[in-house]
Amino acid sequence: MQEKIDQYTAEINAFSPANADELEAFRIKFLGTKGLIKDLFEEFKTVGPEEKRVFGKVLNQFKQMAEAKYAELKEGLDSGLKTQDLGLDLTLPGDGFEVGSRHPLSLVRNEIIDIFKRLGFVVAEGPEIEDDWHNFSALNFPQEHPARDMQDTFFIRKGDGSDDIALRTHTSSVQVRMMESGKPPFRAIMPGRVYRNEAISARAHCFFHQVEGLYVDENVSFSDLKQTLFHFVQELYGEGTKVRFRPSYFPFTEPSAEMDISCTICKGDGCNMCKYTGWVEILGCGMVDPNVLENCGIDSKKYTGFAFGMGIERITNLKYVIRDLRLFSENDVRFLKQFQTDII
Ligand code: PHE
Repeated sequence: MQEKIDQYTAEINAFSPANADELEAFRIKFLGTKGLIKDLFEEFKTVGPEEKRVFGKVLNQFKQMAEAKYAELKEGLDSGLKTQDLGLDLTLPGDGFEVGSRHPLSLVRNEIIDIFKRLGFVVAEGPEIEDDWHNFSALNFPQEHPARDMQDTFFIRKGDGSDDIALRTHTSSVQVRMMESGKPPFRAIMPGRVYRNEAISARAHCFFHQVEGLYVDENVSFSDLKQTLFHFVQELYGEGTKVRFRPSYFPFTEPSAEMDISCTICKGDGCNMCKYTGWVEILGCGMVDPNVLENCGIDSKKYTGFAFGMGIERITNLKYVIRDLRLFSENDVRFLKQFQTDII
């Protein structure tokens, strides 16, 4: 009997369950109604009075030891061991919870949209794969006109050899779609991705993002254009930002202009962002050419309009002093996570 008790004691002491099933098997084996300890007590009944005296105490101690061990293991399993099964140790410090941040281009796009929304502009969108009419012809780019070279286009050649489908080079195509399918007045902005066949460098990319705007109504004048864009830059870059308009050329606007603002980095003193001129160009604009209105079925005697277009990357560079366009599409988390988080 002593031998058995010794052997069971060693077994119980060495026992370490990996899960609840093993612990239950342990309980049944030793403490169950048909378990080994029960057997020992049965055996105890058959021994002589001399042995009873010796083993009575030993057997009871052994039983208590086995019950205590079971209780201790069960408690361990209920708390810590269970989580070890899952590969977790709840006593370790937790992993940080990383909240994503919005892409800087999305932040700036949303800001631009908000400013124009307050002025009553709605948001319009259109396809990135466009036909020649919407990207060029309706916008007063005649066939074979050198102005088409201003925007290095990715054409999509169809099976029959024709290539009047292209990746849109600007979101002005959305202006055409809007004017064709509705009636004036129009007051909308068109954010979206555009494509141009340029070698990728710090200053150029084969795709970028634009926000263009269109306002068509009776009696819209160049002074409306100037005031709208002046207000826009005060909101975006702060009160006191200066603007200047330089004559320019776009096939779809007449007159056309480019708008500069006082350099947001040096406030006009001169720095390498503005090439020491104190001014940086941020957008193209002009009065919608009457031919464009007519192409879209709008009476150019009755209606006039202005349009403008800007690259979101450029606006963002000036806002956050980013000098390499490639950062926007490389998705380097060290770059992206520097921007304000407004998601939660
Ligand atoms: N579509 C022009 C561009 O992509 C920008 C522009 C829009 C200019 C509207 C004038 C008026 O460069």
